[in-house]
Amino acid sequence: METRQIEDGFGVEITGGLDVLAPLSPAQVAELDALMDEHSIVLIRNQPMTTDQQLAFTRQFGPLDQGFKKVTAKWNTNTQVTQAEVGDISNIGKDGKPVPRTDKRVLNNIANQMWHSDSSFQKPAAKYSMLHSVRNPSWGGDTEFTDLKAAYDALDDRMKEFLDGKEAEHYALHSRFLLGDDSYTEEQKAAIDPAWWPIVRVNPATGRKHLFIGVHARQIDGLTVPEGRMMLADLLEHATQQQFIYRHKWQTGDTVIWDNRATLHRGRHFDLDEPRELRRTTTLDDQAPELSLAS
Ligand code: OGA
Ligand code: MN
Repeated sequence: METRQIEDGFGVEITGGLDVLAPLSPAQVAELDALMDEHSIVLIRNQPMTTDQQLAFTRQFGPLDQGFKKVTAKWNTNTQVTQAEVGDISNIGKDGKPVPRTDKRVLNNIANQMWHSDSSFQKPAAKYSMLHSVRNPSWGGDTEFTDLKAAYDALDDRMKEFLDGKEAEHYALHSRFLLGDDSYTEEQKAAIDPAWWPIVRVNPATGRKHLFIGVHARQIDGLTVPEGRMMLADLLEHATQQQFIYRHKWQTGDTVIWDNRATLHRGRHFDLDEPRELRRTTTLDDQAPELSLAS
């Protein structure tokens, strides 16, 4: 595959030697995995996929994640997406038009505008997310990514030592509660048990350390809730400084693959009355070293 470094940020663009519609050889899968381990973001431009084609492409990298759909799928039915493993990251209803801004799916997607790692609130969490662009608004709606490897490296030694061995609890609805949306049933609140993850994790393929934080995290073990939350807020502020960020401006037919272990992302503001249509497929990080250590 031919690649080039993404300018103004981190990650690589694949510029040749990959057809997302053709089955990949094991060597190609390994090559893409290696690019993801090293760069955390892979961009593929101008290769439109149907939702089924996107699913087939994604399946080659591992079992699929349903993530937050376990909370919402039964309730958010005004969508053109019928496959359980596909996230409808759009404001488009069954009739192909933008739904009202009060629609539950629009409210859920607003939480995507806060820095997060997909499905960090569950075990296993998400490994790769693949977001594919179908339609974009005339203004806004970019997606930003931050590099948690570089952010870890830039911590001072005392903070690295303090964080060593500490874990944070991640809960699926914490970000929604922060936005003032607590209109969930007890069944929805209990749909995904909170998950504890080390704040500093290691990529087993490269040995490289990275932070693992984001807006799903709500407390740190051994600290009071306020002290832990303040520290999580400080770490998030540190990790989302301009020098760690890549901002992606979507074109139809783009696919961005990101490593949820080593990056955070957030959508940016746009006019909710304009159509914005992306599709997300996600793999589970079912080989995470922490999973085999669990008692
Ligand atoms: C997502 C997500 C951000 C965006 O699809 O997981 O967070 O820009 N999307 O829509
Ligand atoms: Mn997301």
